[in-house]
Amino acid sequence: MMSSRMTTRRTLLKAGAAGTALVVAGRAGFNSSLAQLPTLEKKDSYVVGFAQTDSANPWRLAETASMKQQFEEELGWTLIATDANADTAKQLADLDSIIAQQPDIIIFPPRESQALAPKVLEIRDAGIPVILIDRDVDHSIAVPGEDYITFIGSDFVDQGRRAAEWLAQATGGTAKIIQLEGTTGADPAIDRKTGFEDYIAGTFKGTPTADGAYPGMEIIASQSGNFTRDEGRQVMETLLQANPDVTAVYAHNDEMAIGAIAALEAAGRTPGEDVILVSIDGQNNALDAIVEGKLGATVESSPFFGPISYETMMRFVDGEEIEPWVKVEDRFFDINNAAEFQGQQF
Ligand code: AHR
Repeated sequence: MMSSRMTTRRTLLKAGAAGTALVVAGRAGFNSSLAQLPTLEKKDSYVVGFAQTDSANPWRLAETASMKQQFEEELGWTLIATDANADTAKQLADLDSIIAQQPDIIIFPPRESQALAPKVLEIRDAGIPVILIDRDVDHSIAVPGEDYITFIGSDFVDQGRRAAEWLAQATGGTAKIIQLEGTTGADPAIDRKTGFEDYIAGTFKGTPTADGAYPGMEIIASQSGNFTRDEGRQVMETLLQANPDVTAVYAHNDEMAIGAIAALEAAGRTPGEDVILVSIDGQNNALDAIVEGKLGATVESSPFFGPISYETMMRFVDGEEIEPWVKVEDRFFDINNAAEFQGQQF
């Protein structure tokens, strides 16, 4: 990863030196100490662009609400907000429309990590600083601290590891697992799969796993449910027919886990007893399902990006050098603490 990033950066700089690739344009100017990063001057209010991926689950709605609450309601600034309706092409077009309105900064979650990376470079070239929230882009194409200010978000690989660790303990290291993956090409789907699979294979960097692996934990099927409840339910229905011996489900988000619970119940299975489920997000419905005994655990992934986006943006305005990854720390919910947080999430 590191070396391909560096090669790409060298290639870009070479192209820039030849005057072919790096366009230095726009009204914001550029910070000389941070290569091509556009700067942001201090003023009383700003226009912020926000290109949401979709509004198809409580997590997305909570993220949008958090941005509106922070920038519109608390600060009284202008938020140019769009909704890509779960369509990557639309998110690219939405960003073009936001760029044309020349906001002071664009803050957004890229729906897919490779497809959106060139757009980050285009925004940079238009002289508009970018902060990526919740999802990151492919660093072999766009580099935080150079092409965009930073990525603010969770450690998705570690979320996958934490889910696997809990499942290994809950099943005594023996399970036939169906994995419901998130949106194909999305950063959290890629990393949550890696963290989970590496942990049970005993290859997770720095994590001591018993005997180096859990050979009794087998992923018998793995398919995308696109981070939505309905697709999670439909995929689970299909995979269940082909894999009736399933004993555990790992879903990359709570919505798909809730969909899987519905599919299992419709097939006469007992979630939480003959099939153990673990997922990610920590939404209210998931905490309810834990208390009901249907979902085993969920790793938190916070959608509340408004305050931290504002704080990070103002640190940048103040000339602070921003770390390339502003890491969000997540909690963990299971039967020991779910009741305490019921109704307090999203
Ligand atoms: O990018 C974060 C993921 O996207 C959340 O886990 C999921 O629920 C959302 O759609």
